Amino acid sequence: MAASPAWDRIWLGGHLATMSEGGPPFGEIQNGAIASKDGDISWVGEERDLPGSPEELAEDVVDVDGKWITPGLVDCHTHLVFGGDRSGEFEARLQGATYEEIAQKGGGIRTTMAATREASEEDLFQTASGRLRRLLAEGVTTVEIKSGYGMETDTELRMLRAARRLAEKHPVDVQTTFLGAHVLPPEFEGRRGAYVDLLCGEMIPKAVQANLADAVDAFCDVIAFTPDECEKVLALGKELGLPVRLHADQLSDQGGASLAAKLGARSADHLERTSIRGVDAMAAAGTVAVLLPGAFYFLRDNQPPPVASFREAGVPMAVGTDLNPGSSPLNSLLTALNLACVLFGLTPEESLKGATAHGARALGLQRTRGSLEKGKMADLAIWEIGHPRELSYWVGKNPCAGVVKDGESTLFISV
Ligand code: NIG
Ligand code: FE
Repeated sequence: MAASPAWDRIWLGGHLATMSEGGPPFGEIQNGAIASKDGDISWVGEERDLPGSPEELAEDVVDVDGKWITPGLVDCHTHLVFGGDRSGEFEARLQGATYEEIAQKGGGIRTTMAATREASEEDLFQTASGRLRRLLAEGVTTVEIKSGYGMETDTELRMLRAARRLAEKHPVDVQTTFLGAHVLPPEFEGRRGAYVDLLCGEMIPKAVQANLADAVDAFCDVIAFTPDECEKVLALGKELGLPVRLHADQLSDQGGASLAAKLGARSADHLERTSIRGVDAMAAAGTVAVLLPGAFYFLRDNQPPPVASFREAGVPMAVGTDLNPGSSPLNSLLTALNLACVLFGLTPEESLKGATAHGARALGLQRTRGSLEKGKMADLAIWEIGHPRELSYWVGKNPCAGVVKDGESTLFISV
């Protein structure tokens, strides 16, 4: 009796950008092959080194016909679930109003809060599904989704439930992040401490108890929360066993990067105004710098994050969309990669690392995702390109020809 094949599937006939550390640029393997078994990668290498004939090795052999295969992309920072939009405030900003002024007048995040409080879980699920599908069509297989437009217990939990449902209904892994400390809700005006108490005494414990939050985040800035307030919230999150991250130094330098490092945060995000002290603290703590060029672009910021210092200090840089209705209505991770190169000076390789290996690290998923290596999950994106640098080169073109999640083809695979 012939032995049954050891592997489920092999992809061959193309090239790999493994994004593994220590190898050639992009971890490139020309004429590479990759195999999966039970949803994990069981073999990666040059096709000519396959230990037998492909048909004997796997149940299913897929010829990708000269295309490139990368790890499935990771969008490690989104606010994908929200009600309404803020196109009216966009018009106001084009007339000269600033993001901070709009926020100080009670608009901005509070505008979205009002629309989100009005929305049912089904509304939130449906509107976010469309946005999610657009990300998935670009090869995204893991996405982080924050709460933070409820700022009251029910709505925060409803947002997180919608995010969990998105994961159930789509071929994607979703990591949820509780961001109740986004801005002070109007009913707590003049009672900041009481809101922080509500976050720590009720909202975070309830989110944890219902297993709705995989991490806790806070927005540390003049229009949001002070470093002390953020520290209280994140310390409680840690006490309850959750990893933490921080929106840091976006509009002003509040020492957010140093605070994130002190708390052992997985990531500090935005970082346009981070000082060299903050960079060094992040390097020492192993905190990932999540760069969000969509917000920088859309707010017409003029101070990019200290990329050269991050590079020099060896701080891993991730890149995310920050998809949200106010500061970054950017429904495309590939565009974020382009913006990271053009506006922040990342190389195309750094940029792609930001949405693979380093994006996975920002979510604590580096052992299972972010590169094509034996034992990691068989989450792949297949591209109609001549070289992986093209993934941050084209603007508004999506060369994704197929997506594989847990070893199974998902979207419109044409190979
Ligand atoms: O990441 N910086 C804080 N929070 C969001 C903005 C959210 C909004 O304006 O709705 C961000 O840019
Ligand atoms: Fe954000």
